[in-house]
Amino acid sequence: MKEDTYSSGLGAIGFIGAGKVGFSMGKYLSDSGEHLSGYYSKTQESAEQAAIFTGAKAFDNIRDLVNSSDTLFITVPDKEISGVWDCMRKACDLKGKTVLHMSGASTCALFSGIIDTGAYGFSLHPLCAVSDRYQSHKTLSTAVFTIEVSDSSDETYNLKANAIRTAMIHAGNMIVDIRPEDKVLYHAAAVVASNMTVGLVFMAEQMLKRTGFTDEEASKALSPLIKGTMDNILRQGSVNALTGPVERNDVETVSKHLTKLTEQESEVYKALTKALIEIGKIRHEDADYSGMEELL
Ligand SMILES: NC(=O)c1ccc[n+]([C@@H]2O[C@H](COP(=O)([O-])OP(=O)(O)OC[C@H]3O[C@@H](n4cnc5c(N)ncnc54)[C@H](OP(=O)(O)O)[C@@H]3O)[C@@H](O)[C@H]2O)c1
Repeated sequence: MKEDTYSSGLGAIGFIGAGKVGFSMGKYLSDSGEHLSGYYSKTQESAEQAAIFTGAKAFDNIRDLVNSSDTLFITVPDKEISGVWDCMRKACDLKGKTVLHMSGASTCALFSGIIDTGAYGFSLHPLCAVSDRYQSHKTLSTAVFTIEVSDSSDETYNLKANAIRTAMIHAGNMIVDIRPEDKVLYHAAAVVASNMTVGLVFMAEQMLKRTGFTDEEASKALSPLIKGTMDNILRQGSVNALTGPVERNDVETVSKHLTKLTEQESEVYKALTKALIEIGKIRHEDADYSGMEELL
């Protein structure tokens, strides 16, 4: 909801790259009371559609967008960020501007030579999937954002970082500081929680199919297990959600499982069993997992 008195300090926000994240963040921030200057994109059509969607303006050149903006979100694909930045620093006066990209794995090192431009660089990342230009803004409120903070000795840099934090908190998000050297590990954690879960479910489906399940039967059979486990993790936390043979320290069952797995499945099973033993040790301080550990 717009409020006349609200100001995060971001000023006019311009987007370079009118794709899924550009559309969604623009709409989300505009609905939260931020002022958008507009969009520039590779194709004028995308910039115009994003401008219509967010009630902002479409620009046909990057310099005019930069001149009309205090804060620039570079929401192009990761491999394009350096090129766009290069173009901005050569063509535009960036003094005092806040510039940020939204890549999960990359840092502000992509903004080479930023000190000479007088701009202040950040990366801001939502821990969620943004899959649809017109729908994903509705789910952004559930995302935790991370802001990469590097130069906290500079007063203006801190003011700019605070403006970003204020905007996200005002929109309803939790925002966490992350150091540049931790971004890759942070991004890997997100991949483990989302993409790797997909890989594990796929692996379980293949195993069920070897017992005679059809695709449909396997998917239906796993559904309550997956949903129940996710519910338990979200409700109780991962440590309390664990059930099954590792939690029971049932070495015999784990040993039998390993006889039926392919080499690749066995590697994954063993690696994750080691992680589950860590949970078992937290849950049962006195339990002896040495038999299980030897098996692996
Ligand atoms: N999607 C996600 O789930 C997600 C989540 C978190 C963070 N991110 C990050 O958000 C950023 C954008 O991702 P996205 O998913 O929104 O990608 P996307 O849907 O592919 O959109 C990127 C847009 O950038 C424009 N573009 C490409 N090259 C350009 C250039 N040289 N100059 C100007 N515009 C250019 C394209 O516009 P045209 O349509 O005009 O060709 C395209 O629509 C990436 O850094 C990504 O890592 C994505």
